[in-house]
Amino acid sequence: MIVAIDGPAGAGKSTVARGVARALGIRHLDTGAMYRALTWKAMAEKVEPSDGAALAALARRTSFTFGPSGIIVDGRPMEREIRSRRVGHLVSMVSAHPAVRRELVLRQRAIVDSEDAVIEGRDIGTVVCPGADVKVFLTASAAERARRRHRELLRSGMVITYRTLKRELVRRDALDATRPVSPLAPAEDAYVIDSTARSSAEVVAEIIGLVRAAQRRS
Ligand code: DC
Repeated sequence: MIVAIDGPAGAGKSTVARGVARALGIRHLDTGAMYRALTWKAMAEKVEPSDGAALAALARRTSFTFGPSGIIVDGRPMEREIRSRRVGHLVSMVSAHPAVRRELVLRQRAIVDSEDAVIEGRDIGTVVCPGADVKVFLTASAAERARRRHRELLRSGMVITYRTLKRELVRRDALDATRPVSPLAPAEDAYVIDSTARSSAEVVAEIIGLVRAAQRRS
């Protein structure tokens, strides 16, 4: 069973994907964390975010795994570092390089080829797993997405105004949706779910319903 969840920043993908994975007892794979981790490592090793070939080479010599508390890069838990604003600012540039995407898509497929998973990102239903059993495109209004991210960041101790955050979120969505390679877009056969006025528990329950229906069909 492969469940693909795509959508823009702040739509609730991670919370929902985690909930669905837990309910089904299968793995949760956050592909955005891989692009963020590569961006973090590029910053640490002074690789230019504009240099696609160097970034792809860096990706090839990096190990990405997932543990109970998130992504592990070269054996080190990295979930906290990759959520910084600096990484958030540069990750769209890093993830727009075709050579980078080729390498990370190979890694993502290798993980989900061997086991059931809920996999979240931007291009999962369209590129990474076009044969996924259930495809969801999760969205919400920009104001609501910015509100959720803002709450999350304040809770983690970061100081940022709602207005600045909303501007950064809309900028990142525009970059992700207009890049020439694998832009953010729903797959033709994706269920589009708008989470603006709904709780994550409701969305999880709806997706579990889609999974059960897919299981009955197969
Ligand atoms: O889901 P996120 O916000 O952590 O993702 C970080 C960035 O990575 C996002 O700006 C777009 C990019 N990304 C991507 O291009 N393809 C994916 N499958 C997942 C994320």
